[in-house]
Amino acid sequence: YRRLRVALLGAGAVGSQVAALLRQHGDELADRAGARLELVGIAVRDPDAPRDTELPRELMTTDPEPLLVGSDIVIELMGGIEPARTQLLTAISAGADVVTANKALLATHGPELFDAADQVGASVYYEAAAAGAIPIIRPLRDSLAGDRVQRIMGIVNGTTNYILDRMDREGADFADVLADAQRLGYAEADPTADVEGYDAAQKAAILASLAFHTAVPLDAVHREGITHIDKQMMDAARSAGFVIKLLAVCERLVGAAEDGGDAISVRVYPALVDREHPLASVHGANNAVFVQAEAAGNLMFYGAGAGGVQTASAVLGDVVSAARRHIAGGVGVGESTRANLPVVPIGQMTTRY
Ligand code: HSE
Repeated sequence: YRRLRVALLGAGAVGSQVAALLRQHGDELADRAGARLELVGIAVRDPDAPRDTELPRELMTTDPEPLLVGSDIVIELMGGIEPARTQLLTAISAGADVVTANKALLATHGPELFDAADQVGASVYYEAAAAGAIPIIRPLRDSLAGDRVQRIMGIVNGTTNYILDRMDREGADFADVLADAQRLGYAEADPTADVEGYDAAQKAAILASLAFHTAVPLDAVHREGITHIDKQMMDAARSAGFVIKLLAVCERLVGAAEDGGDAISVRVYPALVDREHPLASVHGANNAVFVQAEAAGNLMFYGAGAGGVQTASAVLGDVVSAARRHIAGGVGVGESTRANLPVVPIGQMTTRY
């Protein structure tokens, strides 16, 4: 097989698992990709930081520059806007395909990355950026490209689902279950991102952009968190036959634009979900994305939305796709944002599903 040089930026919970799986499953991945994926370096801030899996010391470096310009595929798992943005732009302009799980970066600078990739015929892969291990980016971008998505309702934050689920099923207290979610490793370093809906809003912007072929900026996403939800609200919802879930709702509003065309609404908020709805049975830290499309009807994607090794599965799938495209000499897989629908501030708010 031909060799492709793969660089990894960041070796936290997901990155260290990606490095381990790339090495453990090297032969299998080579067969699938049609190329040997050679891990040439791992850029980290602190080579001595404790990690879930042991990584080869000789591959670790604190200087990412040589990896950015000398690799065929660059995997970015550092998170945060900078330096991730600058490093990925450098890698793209050097001709690398990039794989990233960076929802904050994609939700704010996605179009900049996609345009840079288009210019050099490279691709940006990001299956792991929304809903962890669940394949949802490709279904929206590829499998449903011939259909018209009407609405997405997603449970896309594991921490808040875990908290609301335990409050609902055990009558547990918000603060106690948040501490458990942090201990179990679901929550972001700063759990405000989870409980105030920022994490879900980033994922909603990414999913809506794909579903509606429109660049949806993060600041167009209406956002409410779950910190005000208490036992009384949970009980009231239950006795009315509902459960409270933090939903990311991305919806096409037919004829709602000023010119009479369609608009879209993207919002994250605690919604009342009918106990009979499939989303009501998503328990613990799991995620699920319920998609309603004109021709396909209702679809649901379910699974682990967080976790190092689970998310690594989605990252490695992207690496194999990037490798296949790279050796086939194909042009970049661009994003289609030509529909350019206006995003209305909230629009026809529905709180019950
Ligand atoms: N903190 C996130 C969650 C991790 O709870 O879903 C995955 O993005």
